[in-house]
Amino acid sequence: MAPIISIRDLTKTYASGFQALKGVSLDIEEGEILALLGPNGAGKTTMISIVCGIVNPTYGQVTVGGYDVVHDFRKTRAMIGLVPQELTTDMFETVYNTVSFSRGLHGCPADPDHIEQVLKSLSLWEKRNSSLRELSGGMKRRVLIAKALSHKPKVLFLDEPTAGVDVALRRDMWALVSELRKTGVTVILTTHYIEEAEEIADRVGIINHGEMLLVEEKRALMRKLGRKRMVLDLISPLKSIPGRLDEWRLKLASDGMQIVYEYEPNDNPGALMALLAALETSNIGVADMSTRQTSLEEIFVELIGKKP
Ligand SMILES: Nc1ncnc2c1ncn2[C@@H]1O[C@H](COP(=O)(O)OP(=O)(O)OP(=O)(O)O)[C@@H](O)[C@H]1O
Ligand SMILES: [Mg+2]
Repeated sequence: MAPIISIRDLTKTYASGFQALKGVSLDIEEGEILALLGPNGAGKTTMISIVCGIVNPTYGQVTVGGYDVVHDFRKTRAMIGLVPQELTTDMFETVYNTVSFSRGLHGCPADPDHIEQVLKSLSLWEKRNSSLRELSGGMKRRVLIAKALSHKPKVLFLDEPTAGVDVALRRDMWALVSELRKTGVTVILTTHYIEEAEEIADRVGIINHGEMLLVEEKRALMRKLGRKRMVLDLISPLKSIPGRLDEWRLKLASDGMQIVYEYEPNDNPGALMALLAALETSNIGVADMSTRQTSLEEIFVELIGKKP
């Protein structure tokens, strides 16, 4: 099946001369949940804004449902719901009207049943007659999502939907995203919470300095880059790792009291036992040991060189 969104060689140089995107290519399949991860200023919002037709690309092509986002803007925009990173809404309007008008702005006729269903699914129905300035920050964010869903989009962009949102609402949001996926909606979200990507995404894209470093199915990524790490606490300090243990590429902690061994989980089932035997032969006494799997966060830090 043709991808719902196709991005080819996308480049964006802002009027200031700053190059925010440097030739990004990406296909997004219908019905998937894609998480875009990257540090501040990586180019996530720029990319989303171009797909949504808010920012013009400098070079490259983007299609949504087969239509070009520049030449067939109306057709592509009608298929897209966007929850922007910045909150910008008329604070004096009521919840109901804000969401219902949004449908009109997308050229859709009124549909009270749909608006009711959307407001209920976001626990906003009781607040439908409140004006937005009477709502809490998290509720305002939910109104933005309701607006983005008002015209039944095929693709939903959530640009940091859970920034500054409490844990309960974040979980609600995740539940909502999986509900949407069941109805066939494609969801692209940006986040600084790696846990969020780990929890709900089918695929993860990592973007840095305007370049897409990788896009990979989440499970395959964890398999490919996720290593296991065994930490051995030593009985007495070691000055250096003996040469005969070179093949294990062990790391010694600065106090000499710990050895760290990193390995691929399925690499070599006998490797751990062999290592322990080799340590014994070298008269290195082990007091305790523990193993754990590297997380998506550690994979990210390794690629980018800093925390998300
Ligand atoms: N209108 C603009 N004019 C000039 N430079 C811009 C403009 N908008 C964004 N930029 C720059 O482009 C780069 C990418 O910004 P963008 O908003 O796409 O990053 P982001 O990945 O969404 O970051 P964040 O995680 O902070 O939201 C940044 O260096 C930013 O300063
Ligand atoms: Mg952004």
